[in-house]
Amino acid sequence: MKIDILTLFPEAFAPLETSILGRAEENGILEFNVINIRDFSKDKHKKCDDYPFGGGAGMLMTVQPLFDAINSVWTENSKIIFPSPVGKTFNVKKAQELSKFDHLIFVCGHYEGVDERIFQLFDIEQISIGDYVLTGGELPTMVIVDCVARFVDGVISKESLESESFSNGLLEYPQYTRPQEFKGLKVPEVLVSGNHQEVEKWRQEQSLSRTQERRSDLLEDR
Ligand SMILES: C[S@@+](CC[C@H](N)C(=O)[O-])C[C@H]1O[C@@H](n2cnc3c(N)ncnc32)[C@H](O)[C@@H]1O
Repeated sequence: MKIDILTLFPEAFAPLETSILGRAEENGILEFNVINIRDFSKDKHKKCDDYPFGGGAGMLMTVQPLFDAINSVWTENSKIIFPSPVGKTFNVKKAQELSKFDHLIFVCGHYEGVDERIFQLFDIEQISIGDYVLTGGELPTMVIVDCVARFVDGVISKESLESESFSNGLLEYPQYTRPQEFKGLKVPEVLVSGNHQEVEKWRQEQSLSRTQERRSDLLEDR
């Protein structure tokens, strides 16, 4: 999968080179391309923002550099995403859907947002990562890219995805590793019993009770 990220702050994407995402790129499963929107500005000072018509606080990203930056990478098979508080809220279903595309383009907003005409010029899906406002689209893009990448074949094992929170509409059960006892706290007996059926039963019960206690809304959606 090819992922183009258009931003005024390319340095914000250094984490893409680390850990699982970095390895997926090294292995040729993912290809990241971070593009500076400022390089496309036709303004003599490379300006990319201006005051909003009608007044109001802050600045808006201007449409020309955005249009040309998107145009430089767009093909008929591209899916364009603009992280924004006004979009529908991101979830695991959307991540799975996006993981099926060969080419994603993320456009990162900043300041008070972008000139609305960009949404008339391209077919762009707006996606929110939650009911709060961040200073820019860089962190939301990282969140969405990281989550989508996990569903791309070969990035992580299928088994890891299957037992994860939300995969079956429940939260994950509690987990433990060595040592078996720490500061008087012991690992639940069943997990060291060697009885796989009992371990599975315990995990399912824990998943269900944790979901009931913390996220009963998930049970309504099942
Ligand atoms: C300060 S915000 C602009 C908020 C905008 N004026 C509003 O009230 O909806 C700047 C940029 O950060 C990104 N952003 C902020 N919060 C976000 C969220 N919850 N989800 C996704 N993107 C977000 C968007 O790209 C947005 O254009």
